[in-house]
This record gives sequence, C-alpha cells and structure tokens, in this order.
Amino acid sequence: MAIRISPSILSADFAHLADEAAAVSDTADWLHVDVMDNHFVPNLTLGLPVVESLLKTVTVPMDCHLMIEDPDRWAPAYAEAGAGSVTVHAEAARSPVRTLREIRGQGARAGLALNPGTALESYADLVPEVDMLLLMTVEPGFGGQRFLDIVLPKIRRARELIAAGGGSIWLQVDGGISEETVERAAEAGADVFVAGSSVYKAEDPAAAVQSLRAQAEKAAVSGK
Ligand code: DX5
Ligand code: ZN
Repeated sequence: MAIRISPSILSADFAHLADEAAAVSDTADWLHVDVMDNHFVPNLTLGLPVVESLLKTVTVPMDCHLMIEDPDRWAPAYAEAGAGSVTVHAEAARSPVRTLREIRGQGARAGLALNPGTALESYADLVPEVDMLLLMTVEPGFGGQRFLDIVLPKIRRARELIAAGGGSIWLQVDGGISEETVERAAEAGADVFVAGSSVYKAEDPAAAVQSLRAQAEKAAVSGK
C-alpha cells in the first residue's frame, strides 16, 4: 500500500499561495485545496478562479476537497480545469453517481467524503464509483482542530470494504493529522494523509511532509 501525503494549503499564507505550494513540491504527493462556501461549512475560502490560477504554476497534482452545497453543479468544472482529484461530500451531493462519473469523465480521480457522523454503510454501494474515499477526522470547516478518535473504527471498516473490492481505492483522512495521530490513522488503514497545520505551521514544511510519510509508512506495515 503506497502512502501519500497531501498538505492542505488552508493553513498556508493565502497572500503567497504559489510560494507555499512550491515549498512542499519536492516532498508532497498531492496538494490539498479546501474549497468552502460558507453554507455547507461555516467558513469561506477560495473557488474555481483561484484553483485555475494555481494550476498554472503548481507542479504537484491538486486534490480539491469541495465543502460546498450543490457540488453536482460545480465539481466537474474543477476536473475540467485540470485538478488531479475532485472530492465531493456525500451529505451535499444530490446525484452522487452522476457527479462522480462526470468528474472521471473529465479525466480526474473522483473522491467521496464522509463527515465524522455519516455512516459508511449508507454509501457502501457507491464505492465502485470512486477512486478515493475521504473520511473526515474532524468536523469540516477549519484547520487546526483535534483528531477525532471516534472515526478510527470507520477507517478500519472502510479498509475492509475497499480490500473486499480489490483494494485499489485510496482511503484518505483529513483533519488533525500530525506526528501524534498519523500512526493510528495509518494502522487503521488510511493511505492518503491530508495535513494542514502540522505541515504549514512547521518551521520546515517540506521536512514535516517527509517525517509524516516516514511515520505513516512504518505504522502501515505494523497495522497489517
Ligand atoms: C478541514 C479541512 C482540512 C484542513 C485540515 O475542514 O478539510 O483539509 O485543512 O487542517 P488540519 O490538518 O490543521 O486539521
Ligand atoms: Zn480538506
């Protein structure tokens, strides 16, 4: 199982996003972009015009996490713009199958995100339609929150579900991932780790990515 680290620019300096992305471009696998609309979550960040501009300069593939209402309407445009991965929330999507297929149709990886209180089992039938399942390990909306251990059993069940289907779907965790928590998320079966504050508030963001990766790789082996 390959471990992937996706630093979240939510904790970066928004006045220098291109430089902040470049700071991790040698060590990160993906760059995680949190799109928030102040409706689905109580926070407002950035949207398609900023993503389009970043896509022109950022060398790492972009992982767009849409925390917005009506993702059915907006998600395909992020894929069309060139995002490598586009994730929509199960709680917000009204036609998830169609939307996930449109994302894939535009050549991007399709992701489905579940909030901490959303049951995995309600969405098990959608698993063949996704390239990545994102399990939120905080309530979405803000960086710097504490990792919710109550999600660990769901990570384990998701890993089993994915393994039963052949194992090729990525399992992402997002929220509170740091050197204190990355190991238990990896042991439970996550393989893609979003990290905002633990990367961008570190003195050396590129080195923080590397040490999270080393910890996750070690824990993933012992979790088997
Ligand atoms: C929260 C966002 C996260 C956020 C994580 O709703 O989806 O991607 O940036 O931040 P940390 O890693 O600080 O919890
Ligand atoms: Zn996110």
